[in-house]
This record gives sequence, C-alpha cells and structure tokens, in this order.
Amino acid sequence: MSKLTDTYTLSNGVKIPQLGFGTWQVPASIAQRAVADALKAGYRHIDTAKAYHNEREVGLAIKASGLARSDVFVTTKLPAETKTYEGALKDFESSMQALDLDYVDLYLVHAPWPWAKAGTNYDQENREVWRAMEEIYQSGKAKAIGISNFGVHEMENVFADATVKPMVNQIRYFIGNTEPAVTKFAQDAGLLVEAYSPLATGRLIGNDRIQAIADQYGVTTAQLAIRFCLQNGVLPLPKASHLEHAQNNADVDGFVISDADMALLNSWQ
Ligand SMILES: NC(=O)c1ccc[n+]([C@@H]2O[C@H](COP(=O)([O-])OP(=O)(O)OC[C@H]3O[C@@H](n4cnc5c(N)ncnc54)[C@H](OP(=O)(O)O)[C@@H]3O)[C@@H](O)[C@H]2O)c1
Repeated sequence: MSKLTDTYTLSNGVKIPQLGFGTWQVPASIAQRAVADALKAGYRHIDTAKAYHNEREVGLAIKASGLARSDVFVTTKLPAETKTYEGALKDFESSMQALDLDYVDLYLVHAPWPWAKAGTNYDQENREVWRAMEEIYQSGKAKAIGISNFGVHEMENVFADATVKPMVNQIRYFIGNTEPAVTKFAQDAGLLVEAYSPLATGRLIGNDRIQAIADQYGVTTAQLAIRFCLQNGVLPLPKASHLEHAQNNADVDGFVISDADMALLNSWQ
C-alpha cells in the first residue's frame, strides 16, 4: 500500500489518490519532464491550473507515460479572474484543449476573488460561476468539481444556491497554518480539504525545530510535513521540480507521527 495509490473518496464517490504532485511554478520548459518523472516515481495525481501555463505539458507527459487515462487523476483550475458564467465555460474549454484530454478528474474555482482583489466580495459572481461549474460537471467532462481558497463565508454563499455541492476545497495548509475554522467547516460539510503549499513553498524545509522532530522519526522535514497532512485527513500536494525531492516526498508510509507530536504540530506557532 502506498499513499500514492491509496485513495480518499469524494462525496460523489470519486476516488482520489491521497498524495498529489503540485505544478505551480514549474515552468512549461521543464513541466513535461517533471510530470513524467513524477509518474515514473509512482505519482498518480497531478495538480495544475490554467494560470500555471503548463497544462499542455502536463497532458503530454500523461499521454507519453503509457498509463491508462483512468490511472491518473488530473486536477485543473478556473482562473481566479474569471467571474462570469460564459467566461467559466470558455476557460474550461481552453484548459481541455491545452491538456488535450477527454475529461479532467477535478475542476476547481481557483479563488473566490481575482488575485488583485483578494479579500473583496464576489458572492454574486461566485454563484454565477458555480452554475457553470455544475453544468461542466453534468456534462461528464469533469468527474468532480470544487473550490480553492474559499473561506467559511464564501463556502456558505456557494452552498446556498448549489444543486451540486463542491466536493473539494483546496487551501493553503501546512504545519503552523492549518486554518482550523475553514478546515472544520469544509470537512463537516463533506468536502475533502486539499493542502496546497504543504511545505510552505519550501520554507518549512530549513526549520530547525521541525527538523528536530523529523530527526526523531529518521525522516526529512518534507516527509514529516506531508505525513502531518495525511494524518489530519487532508490531501497534500507537494511540488518538486527535482526528482529526488519528488521521490522523498512520496516515501511517507514507513512511519507514524505519534498522537503527542500531532498535537504539538497542530498547535504549532
Ligand atoms: N490553489 C492555489 O491557490 C494554490 C496556490 C499555491 C500552490 N498550489 C498547489 O500546491 C502545490 C504545492 O505548493 P507550492 O508549490 O507552494 O510548494 P510546496 O510544495 O509547499 O514547496 C515546494 C518547494 O519545496 C521544495 N521541496 C519539495 N520537496 C522537497 C524535499 N523533499 N526536500 C527539500 N525541498 C523540497 C521544492 O523544490 P524543487 O522544486 O526545487 O524540487 C520547492 O522549492 C503547487 O505546486 C500547486 O499545485 C495551489
């Protein structure tokens, strides 16, 4: 058994490999190689976005891998700036063309607001966008749909009108930044929480205090940080452009963080 192939089950019954491979800031020039390496290393879940400008390379790597399409879980995302029904349908089609796949496994609204307007209210627009997401889901071209960076208010807003509830909320989540209110609200509502930046975009790696705990288990800080997400029932999406990092991050089955250390890490300051 491996966390690369063990699955969580989404509220609609779709199975999702418990550990994903992130591709933010993986430039198109190396994305095909990085994703191909990850697939060779056993990853079966790739997280991209239209905004990452590497969907084409992700699609090429999957096709060249020789793996059955059904053996790889692919997530992409609607740009945060797209806040109309028509715009959402159009952007989805452009992602499908870039990926050149028949379907995606998960399609997410990247954020509740355009990045330049983070924190402002887009309630009405998000309900409109969600109608498009539901239509995409009903078409079968996305096996599951969800949201990213949504807080409690923004989730309540979408839930109020939804005929299909989001299955996932992908949030910034790592040791010291576990967003307890958002995580609990999402999980109580039946959403799977995905952890983006599970290594704090690399900043956890050199943390001496976390290293000291990792040393007790004979693992790297990255492995400890990934295992921490998994033991909280959250799905980590570490990014690694270096193969040795991707391999290290996948090797998290051989140890269990004790309850006492989980409590310590869950209250990390
Ligand atoms: N929904 C959103 O708004 C959103 C936002 C941010 C991220 N994400 C998703 O989450 C993924 C991960 O987040 P992230 O890209 O911020 O970064 P991250 O996974 O938290 O950290 C990646 C950094 O850690 C390094 N690293 C990885 N494994 C390592 C290891 N075993 N030992 C030492 N260093 C290691 C990587 O180096 P190398 O690359 O050099 O190997 C890279 O510099 C993204 O790629 C994306 O798919 C989503």
